[in-house]
Amino acid sequence: MNLPAMADPRLNVPAYVNNARLVAWVAEMVALAEPSSVYWCDGSTAEYDRLCAQLARAGTFKRLNPALRPNSYLALSDTSDVARVEDRTYICSERKEDAGPTNNWMAPAEMRELLETGENALFKGSMRGRTMYVVPFSMGPLGSPIAHIGVELSDSPYVAVSMKIMTRMGRPVLEVLGANGKFVPCMHSVGAPLDAGQKDVPWPCNKTKYIVHYPETRQIWSYGSGYGGNALLGKKCFALRIASWMGRETSNSLGWLAEHMLLLGVTSPGGKKQHVAAAFPSACGKTNFAMLIPPAGFEGWKVTTVGDDIAWIQPGADGRLYAINPEAGYFGVAPGTNDKTNANCMASLKHDVIFTNVALTDEGDVWWEGMTETPPAHCIDWQGKDWTPAIAKETGAKAAHPNSRFTIAATNNPALDVDWDNPEGVAIDAFIFGGRRSTTVPLVTEARNWIEGVYMAATMGSETTAAAVGQQGVVRRDPFAMLPFAGYNMSDYFQHWLDMGARINELCAKSGAKLPMIFCVNWFRKGADGKFVWPGYGENMRVLKWVLDRVNGGGEGVEHAFGTSPRYQDLNWTGLDFSAAQFQQVTSIDPEAWRAELVLHDELFKQLAYHLPAELTATKARIEERLAA
Ligand code: GTP
Ligand code: SPV
Ligand code: MN
Repeated sequence: MNLPAMADPRLNVPAYVNNARLVAWVAEMVALAEPSSVYWCDGSTAEYDRLCAQLARAGTFKRLNPALRPNSYLALSDTSDVARVEDRTYICSERKEDAGPTNNWMAPAEMRELLETGENALFKGSMRGRTMYVVPFSMGPLGSPIAHIGVELSDSPYVAVSMKIMTRMGRPVLEVLGANGKFVPCMHSVGAPLDAGQKDVPWPCNKTKYIVHYPETRQIWSYGSGYGGNALLGKKCFALRIASWMGRETSNSLGWLAEHMLLLGVTSPGGKKQHVAAAFPSACGKTNFAMLIPPAGFEGWKVTTVGDDIAWIQPGADGRLYAINPEAGYFGVAPGTNDKTNANCMASLKHDVIFTNVALTDEGDVWWEGMTETPPAHCIDWQGKDWTPAIAKETGAKAAHPNSRFTIAATNNPALDVDWDNPEGVAIDAFIFGGRRSTTVPLVTEARNWIEGVYMAATMGSETTAAAVGQQGVVRRDPFAMLPFAGYNMSDYFQHWLDMGARINELCAKSGAKLPMIFCVNWFRKGADGKFVWPGYGENMRVLKWVLDRVNGGGEGVEHAFGTSPRYQDLNWTGLDFSAAQFQQVTSIDPEAWRAELVLHDELFKQLAYHLPAELTATKARIEERLAA
């Protein structure tokens, strides 16, 4: 045990901490970043309240009107720090091929020099004048065999309180970690050291940003941003990028999957419960699908939320795939959320919320585009400026940033699934993949088999959204909705999915279980007027029901070049006025558009030629044949 470090008063190590490796690492990081003090988060409510009050005094938080939004806060970020920064995100594997062509890569030694060891290394003194928060967290239920522990060191109290909501955080985690337990070290600095006497800003950050992963050594370093996926390192950095790398290391197991997927339970009127995992790219509907309220015509059906963003999936001995949500909260998109589109979400937002970059009303509450039909007559927009409907009309200014978000505990959700915290996970009956496509891709298609499903997911395209900095609304390939999140070579990732399918198929053959079926959906086809044709949200239940019917051996459909889709008469339309002509608009398959689409598949496969599974090129050839026929 490293007693000198344990006893170093500057480290402020609480008596309950007994993991020498952790203390030694904290000591090393303190020496590097030179914070003025160190604070170990215990994860208590008292601590959360204290830090929120401190953030309010510092001007980072505005306490909302407690009569309207009890125990809730609004943070307005720096206008340059509003979303994930994909071009600043690196996978620093030893070999470039292991990061693959879809990730930014730099040799680990070179990156370490830039961040830690070089003369002007970014982390040197980066926390001067600030407190370093030690944030121990568990991804997955505390002590679950599927869970993994991380410790984030951050100079942002906003990160500390967000991690309290988003993960199981604090002293109980260190108790599970014990003296010899392993953790993923996550180093985070906003990169804004303060000189003696220098006044702080409400949202410190740095123009220079680096979001860095060393997958072999399981380390995460994040510099310059305080925002969401850049800064809450348990989420995309650990639970997706590092975890996906961990999951394909199959030396002593069948392997597992870390996916950008929601998890939901569906209970039929007869009481049969099934589970669906669905991958949609960022800001493409996961939170909303996970909280779906069945519409008129689906009386007695119930949808419950296991997770809204990330799933860790492990095969059981019976060949079924068991999934947990490694998170404990939701960091969800605010715009578009209202009582009609997502009443469960609105109910979840009644208290104990951290809002980021939404607008502040004159009553001290929040507002965002789409929250109410009539906007408030006046509010303060996400940039702190006056906003009125007239100003918006004239300048196009948004009251809330398109990527403004809420942070809430899962336990706020009235539709929370009973198994959301179950360490065994839930057994998956179907996978759904879906992009945001205003044209070409039909409402729903069932893949013929696992391999064709992997092909569908691998070649999925989606229009870019405000969740990442950069151009919006441009179609790009987003394989498995994992383009920004796969921690290793995308072709190897496809291979891992194919291998997992083969392995669980063998187990299923013995147990009599069934491989989950794979579907592809698109809620976002637009008409000539530029409006969405499909009503979406709760009405997506009509598609979900068809999916389950197919899984259960029923449901009618028609086979086409890519798989099977329902005809108009195959869906239940009770309670919805949606004509056969409208249905045609969201389901038609235009051969010309699909020939163009397949050219894009081709481009993707060229980019991913290294290690690209032959099954996928063979599948493509079969689709082309069928399309030509
Ligand atoms: P991340 O948190 O970024 O991973 O996003 P997400 O996939 O959870 O997306 P979310 O459910 O927050 O939805 C993003 C945006 O799409 C919101 O503005 C929603 O209102 C909108 N949206 C969600 N579902 C639908 C739908 O079925 N139809 C339409 N038209 N819009 C939808
Ligand atoms: C996403 O972008 O997919 C998110 C939000 O879920 S963030 O945590 O910022 O990555
Ligand atoms: Mn996400």
